[in-house]
Amino acid sequence: MLAVNSFVSEVVVQSPGRINFIGEHLDYNGGHVLPAAMNQKITLKFRKNNSHMCHVTSILLKNDFKIDLNNLVKTDTQWHNFILGVLFHINVLKPNILKGFDCIIESDLALGAGLSSSAALECGLAKGINELFKIGLTDTELIELSRDTEHTFIGAKCGIMDQFAVIKGKKNHLLFLNCETLAYDLIEVDFKPYIIVLLNSNVSHNLANSAYNRRRDECSIALTIIKKKYPNYKFLSKVPLEILNEFEHVLSDEIYHRALYVIEENKRSINAVAHLKNFDFINFGNCLYQSHYGLQQHYEVSCEELDFLVELTKGLDYVLGSRMMGGGFGGCTINIVHSTHVDQFIEDTKGAYRKTYNKELSAIITTIDDGACIV
Ligand code: GLA
Repeated sequence: MLAVNSFVSEVVVQSPGRINFIGEHLDYNGGHVLPAAMNQKITLKFRKNNSHMCHVTSILLKNDFKIDLNNLVKTDTQWHNFILGVLFHINVLKPNILKGFDCIIESDLALGAGLSSSAALECGLAKGINELFKIGLTDTELIELSRDTEHTFIGAKCGIMDQFAVIKGKKNHLLFLNCETLAYDLIEVDFKPYIIVLLNSNVSHNLANSAYNRRRDECSIALTIIKKKYPNYKFLSKVPLEILNEFEHVLSDEIYHRALYVIEENKRSINAVAHLKNFDFINFGNCLYQSHYGLQQHYEVSCEELDFLVELTKGLDYVLGSRMMGGGFGGCTINIVHSTHVDQFIEDTKGAYRKTYNKELSAIITTIDDGACIV
């Protein structure tokens, strides 16, 4: 392991996790999403080592590994693949620039909780190396190569939202991102006196990657069939509901419901932003509840524990909105809670969760912060 105390860094990067208010599973369907970078981060410290080897130590995982830059291939250890993938893709974009380096990784961002710790790691690593060796990669290249790492080295056919939020996030702003064009608006928000509370179910389903990829395939089946009659639709989120309904009895019930969710969620995401801009937090919160319902009933990516946590908040007048967040099948719910009731809220939900599932819940209070930056 690299010695933390005597490590003299040449570059330090802080790379945040992401939250998402609404627009789930829309990024790979060309829809509108509303993520932000959070104040829980991964910190990566770098120094050159004048060799062709990279030595990476993760303090959190108490793990350490060495990489030969001439042999960037997949391994059986998931977190090594994040690093290998990023190096591989930098090498593809800018051949023969990478040299050996040492890197220490620390984190106060929960791993495997649906907060995109993987995008934080990939983007932070890419950004740090870009700075260390003055490679000159643009933000878009950093975002895309991190996304490509997921596709090739991890096997998760994710969209662009997480990497985009990690790189482009801005303190106290939400990113209203059009995933078809990658154009985005920065929306300044101040939820005071409400705060953002994430409830980590501490459930993580092993099948999440394969189920996620299957959803993506299901959307593509729906679009392929619709395009036979309406070839101009490039993305499922853009298909009008009336057109989808023409195919209700052509598509399987399952595929129809996936498409229905995508089309409705995209509209909901656009409406939610309109409410936000009008400072109508009540209706913004209602959109979050409706989003959860769609994810649960039509897209089927929620799970019992997440449904339980969202259900608990219904009827609490100090909670504006609640829903599962991210890819699903476990991870966190996002809740907008009045600050005067936060302690009580956390205590009550922890108690109810323990009683029902005999499992611990972790609460994370978060704020909206800047994207990955060199410190
Ligand atoms: C994961 C993926 C993202 C996005 C979300 C769901 O976080 O990495 O690309 O699809 O799920 O919105």
